Amino acid sequence: MNQPDALSKVQLSFIGCGAMAEAIIAGLLKNQLLKPEQVVGSHPRTERREELQAKYGIRIVENNRAAVAFGHSSERAKDRKKASSIVILTVKPQRLGALLGELREVVQQDQLVLSIVAGARIETIANDLLHRSIVRAMPNTPAQIGQGMTVWTATPEVSEAQLVQIHTILGALGRELHVTEEKMIDMATALSATGPTYIFLVMEALIDAGVHLGFSRHMAQELVLQTMLGSVLFAQESHKHPAELRNMVTSPGGTSAEAIYQMEKGSLRTVLSKAVWAAYQRAAALGRKVNLEVCL
Ligand SMILES: NC(=O)c1ccc[n+]([C@@H]2O[C@H](COP(=O)([O-])OP(=O)(O)OC[C@H]3O[C@@H](n4cnc5c(N)ncnc54)[C@H](OP(=O)(O)O)[C@@H]3O)[C@@H](O)[C@H]2O)c1
Repeated sequence: MNQPDALSKVQLSFIGCGAMAEAIIAGLLKNQLLKPEQVVGSHPRTERREELQAKYGIRIVENNRAAVAFGHSSERAKDRKKASSIVILTVKPQRLGALLGELREVVQQDQLVLSIVAGARIETIANDLLHRSIVRAMPNTPAQIGQGMTVWTATPEVSEAQLVQIHTILGALGRELHVTEEKMIDMATALSATGPTYIFLVMEALIDAGVHLGFSRHMAQELVLQTMLGSVLFAQESHKHPAELRNMVTSPGGTSAEAIYQMEKGSLRTVLSKAVWAAYQRAAALGRKVNLEVCL
């Protein structure tokens, strides 16, 4: 679905140009999927506006409404038939309520709204903006180096051409997966968006275990990071189930068997399963909160 020229006639308006907006902009420009003049962003702070303008050659304005209106009018002026405009909401969840009020009646019906705001349901955005063409996406932090996992869903009003554009935009963050049910966004929030937290905790615990054995912290970190990276690549490239890969290194009465016994005794699987389930319940509860006061 990802097409190199999918964004050639698209104008993007980023509202709130922080870490995630910058990751998307950098990915799109680096992969030459669009030109700097196709991007406009808004940011309240002068230094940040100047920084992004200098770094990427894009237009950054102070006013959110102006960014939305500029995105719509500039592409339209070039080619009325083929132009399209996407408004990308990248503010923190606690800012979203006020922002939607600010943008109501500014977002035009032929503009597509893409939200990556954690916990913000499509229904909330649609009702507050009085707008129907909406995509809700949930990336994760490795997106900031183009290695993210983003799960997204779209309302029925989003056209086929716009779906292709979204595949391309979110593809700039790493891998992307289109799902049909919004419930799966909450599920992905628990598994892939919160996922780096589980991995970093395990990473940290293994490094500490290495230090406990007598390695320097620096050596323990190198051993653990390369082991994790190599194991992920091995699983990906071999296409084998993790249990099969684990069995390959578990000799009878050996070190892996001894370590597995201790992990099972300590209920590691149950703890991880409970953690993901709890994160899912939390994501669903946050989505029900209208004021969106809490974030990931
Ligand atoms: N980071 C991730 O990996 C990740 C993963 C999944 C989902 N998300 C979602 O992505 C969204 C953005 O996250 P982020 O990490 O990029 O946050 P961020 O770096 O804080 O970016 C948000 C930006 O919006 C600016 N801002 C504040 N108030 C504004 C307003 N009224 N109008 C316009 N801009 C305003 C902030 O300015 P200041 O710098 O002055 O505060 C900040 O630069 C969040 O909703 C988050 O839930 C992020």
